[in-house]
Amino acid sequence: MRVFLASLVALAAAVLLGAGLVAPVAAQQSPESRLPSTHFGSEQPVVSAHGFNAAPGFAHAPVAHNPDSPDARQVGELVCTSCHAQETSNFAHTAHALGMSAALAADPGTATCESCHGGGSNHIESPTTPGSIIAFTKDGGTSVDTQAASCLGCHSGGQRDQWAGSVHQRNDLSCSDCHNPMAKLSSEGLLAKQSISETCAGCHRDIRQQFDRRSHMPLPEGQMSCADCHNPHGTINATLLKTDTVNETCYQCHAEKRGPMLFEHAPVRDSCLNCHSPHGSNQQSLLVAPVPFLCQQCHSHVRHPNDLLTSTSLPGGGAPDERLMARGCLTCHSQVHGSNHPSGPRLHK
Ligand code: HEC
Ligand code: HEC
Ligand code: HEC
Ligand code: HEC
Ligand code: HEC
Ligand code: HEC
Ligand code: HEC
Ligand code: HEC
Ligand code: HEC
Ligand code: HEC
Repeated sequence: MRVFLASLVALAAAVLLGAGLVAPVAAQQSPESRLPSTHFGSEQPVVSAHGFNAAPGFAHAPVAHNPDSPDARQVGELVCTSCHAQETSNFAHTAHALGMSAALAADPGTATCESCHGGGSNHIESPTTPGSIIAFTKDGGTSVDTQAASCLGCHSGGQRDQWAGSVHQRNDLSCSDCHNPMAKLSSEGLLAKQSISETCAGCHRDIRQQFDRRSHMPLPEGQMSCADCHNPHGTINATLLKTDTVNETCYQCHAEKRGPMLFEHAPVRDSCLNCHSPHGSNQQSLLVAPVPFLCQQCHSHVRHPNDLLTSTSLPGGGAPDERLMARGCLTCHSQVHGSNHPSGPRLHK
């Protein structure tokens, strides 16, 4: 009972907080739209490249359709709360709860819990019947498609334009594999773990480990996340890159490599991955192989003596060759990404 009361207090607090936040804005608007901004912290709603809002908002939110319990009716939040006090109290700290409580205050018919879980009338009569409610667990009886449809009712489009057919959708991931809207576990994004990278690492442990290598993108340091390069909801390319090509992804931050250069180095324009690993590597500068071997994979012709010479020309040998020592080829060909110098056709300067 104490938990129940505490949750009611938390809920009431959320309602007050929500109402307090929106009051000044609501005062200038028509009663129809007297609802919280759906984009907290921003005056203007974010409009995607396609010209629609990211989410329609919480106003008059409908009950999610549950094909396993098609005749289920809405019972209202207070009924759910009476049995699920602990879940409700955790939920009260989330972005959805804040907006939903305010919308509920404006229109008592608005669905809250049931906008995601579907109508509750059959569930409250027989809570253990699988499928009686839209559940997001493996044995809850709800198909992954139904789970996703519940969220996509409000969140289609935008980043999720390519969700259908994406590698994660095809592999039966549910939104709830990465998101947990029932508790505030991450500072933003309602993620299932505390950060984006931790969420991905739950399944892609091997990729996360590449970032522990000697040279790596500053992801473990918290300066970037997997979502800086990937859109986990789906893209038009196979590896979920946010941009059309690998190079466009890299240019987002390494714009100085974009060029155009007076003298281009062909493999750079082709793909940064000819020489770099995108996540981490045990060579310096994320290289896929150490210099000079890296260069010699492609440059093995004879005019310039750039083939790996005999063991005597190695640093420890009798006649060490400067082409193989230290930064090797880079000692002379320092502008490996291309040169803007009039006398840089050999990438020297
Ligand atoms: C009469 C008490 C009662 C009420 C009212 C109630 N539930 Fe439940 N609910 C339960 C019980 C008991 C379980 C656990 C069932 C089980 O373990 O199979 C449960 C399980 C759930 C689950 C998890 C299902 C799964 O298998 O993962 C969800 C989601 C849920 N309830 C949502 C709701 C929502 C939303 C409402 C309001 C519309 C609601 N419940 C109202 C008793 C209730
Ligand atoms: C934004 C959509 C959404 C809303 C709104 C929502 N839920 Fe959930 N609920 C989920 C998801 C997704 C899960 C699965 C979480 C996970 O992965 O554990 C879940 C899980 C649950 C569970 C199973 C136990 C658990 O915590 O995993 C219960 C019970 C439940 N919700 C009840 C409620 C109640 C009661 C409300 C209203 C106060 C509510 N939910 C509102 C999406 C929602
Ligand atoms: C009734 C409509 C509705 C439903 C259903 C709904 N959401 Fe939302 N959700 C919203 C709105 C409105 C926002 C607020 C802001 C926005 O659009 O940026 C939001 C915000 C979010 C955010 C961003 C939170 C943040 O901190 O930035 C995530 C993630 C999210 N929802 C995931 C889900 C998932 C997963 C489900 C299904 C389990 C779901 N939503 C179901 C309306 C909904
Ligand atoms: C593989 C993991 C993963 C899956 C599956 C996933 N998401 Fe996300 N989602 C993320 C990450 C990571 C972010 C944060 C992205 C960022 O900050 O750029 C995010 C952000 C969001 C946001 C807030 C940003 C926005 O686009 O408005 C919403 C809403 C959202 N996801 C909804 C969904 C819905 C709905 C589904 C199911 C159809 C889903 N997600 C499936 C990982 C996932
Ligand atoms: C619940 C497990 C799970 C989570 C969490 C998850 N993924 Fe995945 N991911 C998969 C599965 C399964 C595949 C498809 C099988 C494969 O190719 O490994 C996949 C495929 C991918 C691929 C394409 C691989 C390829 O070879 O084409 C990328 C990129 C990816 N995930 C990135 C992410 C990112 C980024 C996140 C975090 C936002 C994430 N994943 C979270 C399970 C997951
Ligand atoms: C700096 C940008 C960047 C970051 C950050 C990043 N990736 Fe990638 N990722 C890439 C590129 C580029 C590819 C290769 C695409 C190709 O080969 O076309 C890739 C490939 C992948 C693949 C499929 C190929 C493989 O090696 O199996 C997966 C899975 C993946 N990334 C997951 C992740 C996860 C999980 C994270 C976060 C822990 C992450 N990535 C962070 C750029 C990035
Ligand atoms: C979100 C921004 C971002 C993106 C996208 C990005 N990088 Fe980086 N990159 C960084 C930052 C930050 C550093 C660290 C710079 C520093 O510490 O001085 C870095 C460092 C590097 C380094 C030097 C590593 C070392 O050990 O010295 C290389 C090489 C590199 N990036 C290549 C790439 C490639 C290739 C891509 C595309 C697959 C890419 N980057 C995409 C931000 C980014
Ligand atoms: C032909 C091989 C090759 C290709 C292709 C290549 N790089 Fe590099 N990159 C190198 C080498 C070698 C170094 C180390 C340079 C040094 O130590 O002086 C390096 C270093 C870097 C560094 C760290 C030092 C610096 O110059 O800032 C970044 C960042 C970088 N590359 C980004 C990129 C990006 C982005 C692309 C794609 C547009 C790319 N590289 C394509 C060979 C290559
Ligand atoms: C993936 C293959 C590849 C790798 C790896 C590679 N290159 Fe190149 N490089 C080329 C191609 C292709 C050209 C253009 C050749 C041409 O235009 O005839 C080129 C051109 C050059 C040129 C200018 C030569 C000329 O004829 O104008 C120099 C110098 C050069 N590379 C040095 C290097 C160095 C140093 C490395 C190692 C850091 C390296 N390359 C790695 C493919 C590669
Ligand atoms: C001591 C400085 C120096 C070092 C070290 C060096 N080069 Fe060169 N390289 C040059 C000069 C100078 C030229 C221009 C020769 C010309 O124009 O006839 C050149 C030309 C080239 C060319 C243009 C094609 C050709 O055969 O003329 C390529 C490719 C090349 N070097 C690759 C490499 C590679 C790969 C390495 C490392 C194994 C390397 N270089 C190490 C000085 C060096």
